[in-house]
Amino acid sequence: MNKHQVLLSTKAFIKKQFSGEGTGHDYFHIERVVKLAQRIAKEENASLFITELAAWLHDLGDHKLNNGVDRSEEMIKDFLNSISVPGETIQQVASIVSQVSFSKGKIADSPEAKILQDADRLDAIGAIGIARVFSFGGSRLREIYNPEAPAATSIQHFYDKLLKLKDLMNTASGRRIAESRHRFLEVYLERFYDELEGQE
Ligand code: ADP
Ligand code: NI
Repeated sequence: MNKHQVLLSTKAFIKKQFSGEGTGHDYFHIERVVKLAQRIAKEENASLFITELAAWLHDLGDHKLNNGVDRSEEMIKDFLNSISVPGETIQQVASIVSQVSFSKGKIADSPEAKILQDADRLDAIGAIGIARVFSFGGSRLREIYNPEAPAATSIQHFYDKLLKLKDLMNTASGRRIAESRHRFLEVYLERFYDELEGQE
């Protein structure tokens, strides 16, 4: 298989695995991350092939989607082996994916991991990020907003994570895209509180 065919097979495999996923990590989250990663990679000195391949696979076997068990490395290796991708490429992709997650708290050290981390984080902010936070929160039975017990709400997640992502961007283009998505989060929160207070 050439690189183009590897990417097409991976996309088809991921489409089957993630279609209909209900926590904001559905196939179209993955596709958006691929597109954002391609957009950013064009302005960085990185391998477009490795960046795209890792982007398609970045949520495969993730602990959030797997009852708390992380099977990412194993599932990535099994799939890429099954389509005869060289071992060196498989190692590279598995290592990049292991560095992407916010919750795993690892540092992205290769250009491809930096790009992919930015792309995944961009899909967690802006209008799309807002849709996802409530979708994920709902899947975990979190309340939208609760002034009596704010800690476990989706609104609290804006402060715990989403509003911090802009300053954690690795690349210049990631930062640029994050700026306007971040402003949208702020406008949204302002409006949310205005409506609560009957001030709209
Ligand atoms: P990562 O995949 O980088 O480890 P997370 O698991 O933190 O990232 O986030 C993935 C998606 O789930 C994001 O869109 C995020 O907003 C949402 N999410 C994560 N934790 C919460 C939470 N406690 N409440 C609501 N949404 C959440
Ligand atoms: Ni993701």
